[in-house]
Amino acid sequence: MAILVCGGAGYIGSHAVHQLVSRGEEVVIIDNLQHGHRAALNPHAKFYEGDIRDYNILEKIFTENKIEAVIHFAAYIEAGESVQKPLKYFNNNVYGIQVLLEEMYKHGINKIVFSSTAAVYGEPKKIPIEETDDKTPINPYGETKLIMEKIMRWVSKANGINFVSLRYFNAAGAIEDGSIGEDHHPETHLIPLILQVPLGKRDHITIFGNDYDTPDGTCIRDYIHVIDLADAHILALEYLRKGGSSDAFNLGSGKGFSVKEMIEAAKKVTGKNIKVEIGERRPGDPAQLIASSEKAHKILGWNPKFTDVEVVIKTAWNWHKKHPNGYDD
Ligand code: UFG
Repeated sequence: MAILVCGGAGYIGSHAVHQLVSRGEEVVIIDNLQHGHRAALNPHAKFYEGDIRDYNILEKIFTENKIEAVIHFAAYIEAGESVQKPLKYFNNNVYGIQVLLEEMYKHGINKIVFSSTAAVYGEPKKIPIEETDDKTPINPYGETKLIMEKIMRWVSKANGINFVSLRYFNAAGAIEDGSIGEDHHPETHLIPLILQVPLGKRDHITIFGNDYDTPDGTCIRDYIHVIDLADAHILALEYLRKGGSSDAFNLGSGKGFSVKEMIEAAKKVTGKNIKVEIGERRPGDPAQLIASSEKAHKILGWNPKFTDVEVVIKTAWNWHKKHPNGYDD
């Protein structure tokens, strides 16, 4: 039986496929390659180019393959963009999971591991954030993921499709051999943008606001290595295979770093100066997001291996140095 990975050519999806394949799992990928990369596809996985909103291609995949479970990464992910273009996000993310679940139900597939996000919490009332805390997203992106979780909860009750929702904090880094990594067009994420300065591709990094209510005024995030995230999907799959009930888990390191601290860490890792400018706040950005991942630790047995933020940045630097233009190289 195979695992269907939706969005397996994307950043987190390609790392998850790598970890699945290296454990001997049979993997089928669907990706529309809008943001995913053909070069990120794992040669040991079977690939279908298409969109999860297309019933016909899902019908074809579920008929041609024996799919045991689905891991769903295929979604739009940029909080800032979602504020400008909410309908784009509701269509792809919410309608996308609707079609996927309908097809799963039709074909009797009853397990799904799903990419959720820290953005479901909005501006947290306390740190670290626990799964039961208030969920009031402050951008449409987070809202779509919260709605997707709610859809899955109802479908789990009515149709017996069990889910694990993994609420990622800030995914970072790359596989250590530098063969796959982060490559978004346009790039909006902090670590790749910082590293473009020492790569000579950008003159400076702009800090989006230095008047937040944090010790140095810049936003604090919890950066978690993409391989640790990928491994959590495998543990979630095993949990569902053992009959675990539908649930949601935070995935973070439990440590917060400000934008300024990340720039300092990147200076150390690269050995180069990084020019900084202060800009306006970016709409939809909470001041501080730090996870409690105790629940994933206790129930899934998840223990992140990349606990040093400099090591996380080092793996990203390794990928970006080898691929300064991403997968276009
Ligand atoms: N930032 C800058 N300058 C930049 C880019 C980012 O100061 O040029 C700041 C942002 O304002 C934010 C922090 O760096 O405070 C991190 O920004 P990212 O864009 O790297 O990541 P986000 O925290 O906005 O979002 C990421 C994922 C989301 C996920 C979220 C959960 O993109 O999918 O983490 O925490 F929901």
